[in-house]
Amino acid sequence: MHKRTVLQTALALGLIGASGLAVAQDNVFKIGLILPMTGPQATTGRQIEAAARLYMQQNGDTVAGKKVKLIVKDDTSLPDMTRRLAQELIVNDKVNVIAGMGITPSALAVAPLATQSKTPLVVMAAATSSITQASPYIVRTSFTLPQASVALADWAPRNGIKKVVTLVSDYGPGIDAEKFFKERLQFNGGQVVEALRVPLRSPDFAPFLQKVRDLKPDALFVFVPSGAGAAVMKQFGERGMDKAGIKLIGTGDVTDDDQLNDMGDVALNVVTSHHYSAAHPSAANKKFVDAFGKANKGLRPNFMAVGGYDGMRVIYEAARKTGGKGDGTALLEAMKGQLFESPRGPMFIDAQTRDVVHNIYLRKVERNKDGQLWNVEFDVIKDVKDPGKTK
Ligand code: DHB
Repeated sequence: MHKRTVLQTALALGLIGASGLAVAQDNVFKIGLILPMTGPQATTGRQIEAAARLYMQQNGDTVAGKKVKLIVKDDTSLPDMTRRLAQELIVNDKVNVIAGMGITPSALAVAPLATQSKTPLVVMAAATSSITQASPYIVRTSFTLPQASVALADWAPRNGIKKVVTLVSDYGPGIDAEKFFKERLQFNGGQVVEALRVPLRSPDFAPFLQKVRDLKPDALFVFVPSGAGAAVMKQFGERGMDKAGIKLIGTGDVTDDDQLNDMGDVALNVVTSHHYSAAHPSAANKKFVDAFGKANKGLRPNFMAVGGYDGMRVIYEAARKTGGKGDGTALLEAMKGQLFESPRGPMFIDAQTRDVVHNIYLRKVERNKDGQLWNVEFDVIKDVKDPGKTK
């Protein structure tokens, strides 16, 4: 009798436990955020995590009646690790959405898992054009290198820059930047006289910069990933390239707001094209920059932070639209076509390509009255679709 009671109690507890768990699971909306929190891309991870937490602080940690659980994992930017973590998050944690992706190889490693498991993958950082074509479950809130590069190749020849050397990190986004900048510059009557590629990991820019000095172009066009810009800028200055009359231009990754203020006078007047500047003069951006700084010991948000913040908006809105009941496919559908004001300016998720459409700004580094260096916008090309998609 005593034994039976114990058994019955255990069974009852077990059942209650299991159904209690099922209810708890059902009331949680899980976002698996995979980022490089350590290693060479650690600033990308830090910026995106901080932005995601700020979004939740401002918009609440419940959506459509469900508690939002953000599960952050560090992939150290190794794609095999990204894939393993994504697998665990999908199979064990049963996340509703996977997000993050600090570099292109990480996004490409997870793409097949998103397709197989029908889990939306929100790419917040990686920016090679082809990423969105790697899975119908990918939505991108960062940007693409062709978007940023083409705008600069239109600006350069109108501003006395005809002969250019390109210097890019030797992987997806760098190759996109090189190709789209070169084709457009040639179309506009300019010329890329040499295309240099540096390794992604531990690059030494010195021998490349020496070569650039010898070639004496009007400008050096640079793409390096977020976090590597300060090293380029320093060596550019040390080799006296600016004094030799060679201008430095590039996509906004090289004058990354995360590092810009420490780059010093060598960065002054550098012109770049990009979708986001922390100096973007809108009320929404001022509010974002202030709140981000307050929550993170004065840290300035960069374009990675904005990709993360807007990615959270896309996820929250999709959860809201589907009443918290949608499966992966329903969530994905609700992400498509979203149009809203981002700290970067107006932003749209093209339903056909699942890629971001936004303004690209031309900016020049200036020292403002506050004594700090900023990417100050001086021109805008509105609603730029990824030029990589028409090829
Ligand atoms: C990628 C990474 C970056 O840090 C960046 O600024 C642009 C692109 C990438 O790997 O896709």
